[in-house]
Amino acid sequence: MTYLGRIFLLTIILVVFLKHSKAVCGYESCPATKANMVNIHLVPHSHNDVGWLKTVDQSYYGYKNAIHHAGVQYILDNVVSELIKDPNRRFIQVETAYFAKWWKVQSETMKKVVTKLVNEGRFEFTGGAWSMNDEADVNYQGVIDQFTVGLKFLNETFGACARPRVGWQIDTFGHSREQASIFAHMGYDGQFFSRMDHNDKDTRLNNLTMEMIWDTSESMSGVNLFSGMLYNFYSDTPGFCFDVLCTDEPIIDGKSNENNVKERIDGFISYAKEMSEHYLTNHIMVPMGGDFQYEDARVNYKNMDKLIKYINERQTSGSAYNIFYSTPSCYLNSLHQSLQSWPNKTQDFFPYAHERNSFWAGFFTSRPTQKRFERDGNHMLQVVKQLSVFANLTSEQQNKDLEYLRQIMGVMQHHDAITGTERQAVSDDYDRLMYDAIVGASNNARDALRILTNMPNGEFESCLRLNISECAFTKDGADNVVVTLFNPLAHTSSQYVRIPVKEENYQVIDEKGNQVPSEVVPVARQVLALEYRPNDTQHELVFKATANKIASYYIKKVVSSESNLTSSIKKISPREIDESETVVENSLVKLVIENKTGRLKLVEMNGVSEKIVQNFGVYKTNTSCAYTFRQDGDIQILEDDFEFTVYEGALVKEVHQQVNEWISQVIRIYEGVNRVEFEWMVGPIPIDDQLGSEFVTNFKSGISSNGVFYTDSNGRELMKRERNLREDFVSDLSRQPVSGNFYPVTSRIALQDDNKRMVLLNDRSQGGASLEDGRRHLFNDGGGVGEPLNETQYGKGLIARGKLYLVLDSVKEGDTVKEREAEKELFLPFFKFFSRTSDLEKATTKTIPDFNELPQSVHLLTLESFTENEILLRFENFLDISEGKLISFNIRDIFDSLGGIAIRETTLDGNMPLNEMKRFKFHAQESGNMPSVVEYSTAQHKSLEAENSDEASMFTVSLYPMQIRTFIIKTE
Ligand SMILES: *[C@@H]1O[C@H](CO)[C@@H](O)[C@H](O)[C@H]1NC(C)=O
Ligand SMILES: *[C@@H]1O[C@H](CO)[C@@H](O)[C@H](O)[C@H]1NC(C)=O
Ligand SMILES: *[C@@H]1O[C@H](CO)[C@@H](O)[C@H](O)[C@H]1NC(C)=O
Ligand SMILES: [Zn+2]
Repeated sequence: MTYLGRIFLLTIILVVFLKHSKAVCGYESCPATKANMVNIHLVPHSHNDVGWLKTVDQSYYGYKNAIHHAGVQYILDNVVSELIKDPNRRFIQVETAYFAKWWKVQSETMKKVVTKLVNEGRFEFTGGAWSMNDEADVNYQGVIDQFTVGLKFLNETFGACARPRVGWQIDTFGHSREQASIFAHMGYDGQFFSRMDHNDKDTRLNNLTMEMIWDTSESMSGVNLFSGMLYNFYSDTPGFCFDVLCTDEPIIDGKSNENNVKERIDGFISYAKEMSEHYLTNHIMVPMGGDFQYEDARVNYKNMDKLIKYINERQTSGSAYNIFYSTPSCYLNSLHQSLQSWPNKTQDFFPYAHERNSFWAGFFTSRPTQKRFERDGNHMLQVVKQLSVFANLTSEQQNKDLEYLRQIMGVMQHHDAITGTERQAVSDDYDRLMYDAIVGASNNARDALRILTNMPNGEFESCLRLNISECAFTKDGADNVVVTLFNPLAHTSSQYVRIPVKEENYQVIDEKGNQVPSEVVPVARQVLALEYRPNDTQHELVFKATANKIASYYIKKVVSSESNLTSSIKKISPREIDESETVVENSLVKLVIENKTGRLKLVEMNGVSEKIVQNFGVYKTNTSCAYTFRQDGDIQILEDDFEFTVYEGALVKEVHQQVNEWISQVIRIYEGVNRVEFEWMVGPIPIDDQLGSEFVTNFKSGISSNGVFYTDSNGRELMKRERNLREDFVSDLSRQPVSGNFYPVTSRIALQDDNKRMVLLNDRSQGGASLEDGRRHLFNDGGGVGEPLNETQYGKGLIARGKLYLVLDSVKEGDTVKEREAEKELFLPFFKFFSRTSDLEKATTKTIPDFNELPQSVHLLTLESFTENEILLRFENFLDISEGKLISFNIRDIFDSLGGIAIRETTLDGNMPLNEMKRFKFHAQESGNMPSVVEYSTAQHKSLEAENSDEASMFTVSLYPMQIRTFIIKTE
């Protein structure tokens, strides 16, 4: 056929296709099933990692296929043209990052075709976030944001028919309860996954508990999510992978010596039979696909068509197997309609061991600097979102820059991004993307601050290397510098601020013209020694700042005598003193350092005194990798004495420790701050012995916690962990007693006895455990493995720097409230912007909305522009059921100050009116009689809906412990 002829024919097909329309999507479009048969839901899907062995763009464009065959654009092209051919065919699309990229370059006709497929339920979005996010290392804010971005794109592009009904977390390396809770609050009906500890899975297969009702919150009652575990892995149904990437036999049904229909159909039916014996209903789901499959979708569909045809043909001769194209949501719909009772689940699915001796606990820590960079990106994102609303930034470039950072942060949540399980070149590309996105967004921050402060020409530079005390803006001195602080939290906060400076005398002056106490502290010499660090500044100016939303501090160089509020730092070299220990204390915290060993030995704070010894150690390993942490022997504690020096000022006191050639640390206490800061620096980890190293620090205390400890779930609720114990099964820990007891720590790990409680907070996700009869508190800290994870930077082995925070407290009700507050402040601290000015008067700020009236436990989780005249707002009660209670407050003033004319409440993702949420309700085993009809659940509270003409009482918001509520404010 000629080229033109082909185009003509295609046009006819498309026109015919577009004409015929029965626009029914969602559950109404699900295929018919047969009550008296085993119904096999065949689910075509392709698993498209948003970066892994290849970068996002390489995977999308099908570039560098020698590394890994992956070309997402072709997958989408070809799937769509196969779907058109037969209305029974289905496909699920998961990663919106890829779909959006593809959609942007489609013709109008193609867009119409796809829209029709979506509206008829044939092309169905499942999961639907920007990426399939990890569940161990992510913070809930990043997850909620990236679902918001993905679902918003789908809603804006297709409307309600594109709204996903089920989660599809099939490749994530273990599953968090918070993720399940987030799905429930977005109105999802259920989720599916396919990785689970092998002992857990075996038990569940035996007990018919592969599918369950997950109680997703201790604090919020009745927030359940149906969660199902796939029978086999998500890819390559054994013997029936018809993809061109596989080598399984096609179905040969012609008059041929090779005809294999009988044998192939027998094989599939026996697989289905075996599988159905492990599930409760007469429905089973068989995923058909795998990593980057369906690039030549014709091959897949042609063979699946035959599979369906020949299996169903046997029904006339008595076979009880019924097979059809389906989707996970249609499968879930069948389960819901089957009126079954399901087992319960309350804990989470960490750590994940895919086989004996193989706990996936390495990725809790892999690529520690990238894990921190992700936090920096989130910090910038939240700051710029708020600033853009306050300053009403609306230019095309500003919207584009902000949206780009939102999307890149969505990419970073992917289960091969924040996890550190991607190839080095891919990791470099993530860094590049994030850097570009942060720089773009920082232009918005500058634009906003020029409007919101009285410095219309301020530079508002954000220095991105403050973690090594470097800032191009202050390299020649900080004279006449204004540092403008932005506080992303709801309430006014006081925090210490550090600015790289030369060793000179400075005055710090607040907006009212008052001088603020400050001091100049030396930077740790190990930081100064970093080869890639320009050594213009060797000190940091420290002062305590207070900011409601925006506050500016003016810094001026002075000769020493003028600066009577500047305290001087005293240097003490303890070994020269003939004492056995050195005491470093302020009004709240006392530290005792043992002079001989240089180690911390005792901490006193909050009326509690406890021996706490901190050590560093290494697990040598031959077999760890980016995913797994495998010990080959016991921990080797670094026994040598530490060198140390103490610097004492009135505001801050620091112990600078040299642990060995490649580990150093600063222990720090600030006046008025009830915690101890440990700023560690590790690297390059020696690899001369050709072994990998899992590097850890442990805090050994006398607190006898009986093997019980607590770790946070994605920065929210605490999960109780019991050494060597799992909720539903017996874990095989014989060969990996350490890694099998490691849990993800995204923000906090705690242990306690009847009287005392010890808590560590961190600045990025890590792994943590309590291993020795409650007495040892071990914290995996920036582990790097020799090969193949061998990170380098600036041509040398990676050096990582980060912070841990220790809190010691008594065990009293409500004491953990302080930890929650600290967690928020450490996660979203003041963002610093630098400008140069000689005129102090100009540093005052304009008025912006005030959130201080909100109860103390309310977190301003989100404030961002949503559409042109809409603002998305989320409030969270960040205390849990043991710490807080129902709170109520009125947001009329906030609504008015944001220029609101109407407000409505939505599901957690912001894209569906809350009063339209209607979720499947599943019946739990042993919870009374099974109802005779299917049940649904709706939101547990009445949606807030009001207009500016309504009275203020309409604007009352109540929040249960841990509850988040999401609102859209319509503005002029
Ligand atoms: C679940 O299976 C395990 C072994 O696989 C068995 O010991 C246990 O009794 C089963 N539990 C139930 C409730 O059937
Ligand atoms: C979703 O899209 C529909 C139609 O495009 C729109 O009316 C609705 O407001 C959107 N949902 C939200 C929460 O914005
Ligand atoms: C499952 O949870 C429900 C609701 O909390 C409860 O009523 C039921 O007894 C539980 N079932 C089992 C088997 O524990
Ligand atoms: Zn994957």
